[in-house]
Amino acid sequence: MTIRRVGVVGCGLMGSGIAEVCARAGYEVVVREVSRVLLDGGLARIDASLRRGVERGKIEEAAARRAREAIRGTITLADLAESDLVIEAVIEKMAEKQAVFRELDGLCPPGTIFASNTSSLSITELAAVTTRADRVVGMHFFNPVPVMTLVELVRGLQTSEETLEAARGLAVSVGKTVVVAKDYPGFIVNLLLVPYLLDAVRALELGVASKEDIDTAITLGLNHPMGPLTLLDFVGLDTTYYIAEAMYAEFRDARYAPPPLLKQMVLAGRLGRKSGRGFYEYGRS
Ligand code: 3HC
Repeated sequence: MTIRRVGVVGCGLMGSGIAEVCARAGYEVVVREVSRVLLDGGLARIDASLRRGVERGKIEEAAARRAREAIRGTITLADLAESDLVIEAVIEKMAEKQAVFRELDGLCPPGTIFASNTSSLSITELAAVTTRADRVVGMHFFNPVPVMTLVELVRGLQTSEETLEAARGLAVSVGKTVVVAKDYPGFIVNLLLVPYLLDAVRALELGVASKEDIDTAITLGLNHPMGPLTLLDFVGLDTTYYIAEAMYAEFRDARYAPPPLLKQMVLAGRLGRKSGRGFYEYGRS
C-alpha cells in the first residue's frame, strides 16, 4: 500500500521527532496534541530541531522549510482521519493508548494502519480495542528521533504481513534501520536497557558511587555516549518509570521493579531534562 499522509498522535519528545522525520522524508503530516499550549511547545521543538539540522549541515534550508510546511498541527483527533498511517506517541500507559486507538478506530477508514511508538506495552493488547487488529503494528523510535537511526518494528499476534511491510517501508524511507521483534514486553532494546538503567539507580541508592562517577565509569569504561543516569534524564524519569512498571507487571521479576528513588523523583517532579531537573540540573528548554 502507498503511504503519503502520516498522522501522529502526541507532539511530545517522541511525537515531535516522528513528525519531523516523516515530513523531512516528504510525507504530509498532521500531528495532534491535546491542548494548544502543548501543541505550540511541540511545534517549537520541531522548529528548533530543523534549525539545528540546518546548522549541522544535515538538511538544506529550503528542505527544512518544506518539511515544516508539510506539518500541520491540530488539537482535533478527527483531523487525522485522512491519514494512510497513524503513529501514536502518547504517554506510556495502556489505558491512554487504548483510548486513542478506540477513538481513531471510529474516525479512520478500515484501511488505515495504526502504529504505536510504545516502548514496552503489548501491541496485541492495544489492537484488541480496534476492529482492525491485523492493521496494528509497533513502530518504536529512539530519542532523539532525528539522530537515532533505529526503528524496532513489533509484530502483534494478529499483525498482517502487509501491515508489517508498510511500516517497514515507512521506517526505511525516513532513513531508519529496521529490526523486527515479536510482541514481548520491552521488545529488544528495552528488554535489555531497562534493567541496566534501574540497576544504575539502585547503585546510586546503595551508595556504591556518586552519580557523576557512575556515569563517568560507564561513559569511559564502556565507551557509551552517555552514562545511565544522564540517559535516564534524557529519556525522562517518568517514561522510564512507566515502562518499568509495565514490564514488572508482565514479568513479576525484581529486575524490572522500579527502585524507590526513581518513584520518588517522579513524584517530586524531577523528570529529567524536560522538567529542568532529574539526576542533574538543566536550563529549561
Ligand atoms: N537533525 C539532524 N541531525 C542532527 C540533529 C538534528 N536536529 N541534531 C544533531 N544532529 C546530528 C549531528 O549533526 C551529529 O551528526 P554527525 O555525528 O554526523 O556530526 C549527530 O547528530 C550527533 O549530534 P551532536 O553532536 O549534537 O550530539 P552529541 O554527539 O553530543 O550526541 C546524542 C548527542 C546523539 C544524544 C548522544 O549523546 C547519544 O547517542 N546519546 C544516547 C542516546 C540514546 O541512547 N537514545 C536512546 C534512548 S532509549 C529510547 O529512546 C527508547 C525509549 O523507549 C526509552
